[in-house]
Amino acid sequence: MTPQTAQVIAMAGKGGTGKTTTSALLIKYLVKNNLTPVMAVDADANANLNELLGLEVETTMGEIRDRMKTDTPQGMTKSEFMEMHIAQAIIESKGFDLLVMGQPEGPGCYCMANSILAQVMEGLAKSYRYMLVDNEAGMEHLSRLNLRKIHTLFVVSDPSARGVLTAARIADLTKNLGVEVNNKVLIVNRVPMPVPDALDKHVQEAVGKTDLKFGGYVPASDEIFEAEMSQKSLLELPADTPAVKAAWEVFEKYLD
Ligand SMILES: Nc1ncnc2c1ncn2[C@@H]1O[C@H](COP(=O)(O)OP(=O)(O)O)[C@@H](O)[C@H]1O
Ligand SMILES: [Mg+2]
Repeated sequence: MTPQTAQVIAMAGKGGTGKTTTSALLIKYLVKNNLTPVMAVDADANANLNELLGLEVETTMGEIRDRMKTDTPQGMTKSEFMEMHIAQAIIESKGFDLLVMGQPEGPGCYCMANSILAQVMEGLAKSYRYMLVDNEAGMEHLSRLNLRKIHTLFVVSDPSARGVLTAARIADLTKNLGVEVNNKVLIVNRVPMPVPDALDKHVQEAVGKTDLKFGGYVPASDEIFEAEMSQKSLLELPADTPAVKAAWEVFEKYLD
């Protein structure tokens, strides 16, 4: 049965922990398993998910929102203007599309633009199986998207005692976003293998304190490092790359 609307998966976590990397590995997973079509939303003002997917960005939602204020032609409503330009800004790829939010609004009133944007996004979500939102640390854009429900929130952490505590705190903060979150899942990324016992102890403690579930460990990966250095798409990493396998095991457990 096709769902009424896309199931929303969102990323949270401190900057540099691996949210965008995990997003790219998740898109790879969904496409590989034919869990498509996927709408990937880059909700980081400093957008770079496109680079990890080997795609070029032409327009962002922020630019369209700015233009709506001044450029809407006569005989066209602002909603029609936004809808048309958003449709053009969607970057189509194999099994998934990418939409880039861009810069948050500057001073001035953007209530109408943001509400139209949220409406258009809600309409768009109906044509996708999954909507994946790659956030920046502050999750600024998340509220603008007006999502009713997040099916799974992956909270990504670095492999440190403080890092996992921060992840637990971030998971708690989502209570203030005013959106229902079904599953909060911790991914500890860039872990030295084998997993140090001390780290595992901190992870279990942090998880015990919150409603965060433990998803898994993703190893520090030479392959990801090399892909980053040569600016290659993570979609091209072989499926038997240890970090890819580890991430996919987490996705398999928590997504349906
Ligand atoms: N498992 C990993 N192994 C090696 N490098 C990684 C791994 N995960 C992320 N990185 C690297 O860490 C940096 C930050 O990752 P990124 O996904 O951009 O973090 P975020 O989106 O949370 O800011 C990038 O250079 C990325 O290539
Ligand atoms: Mg990022």
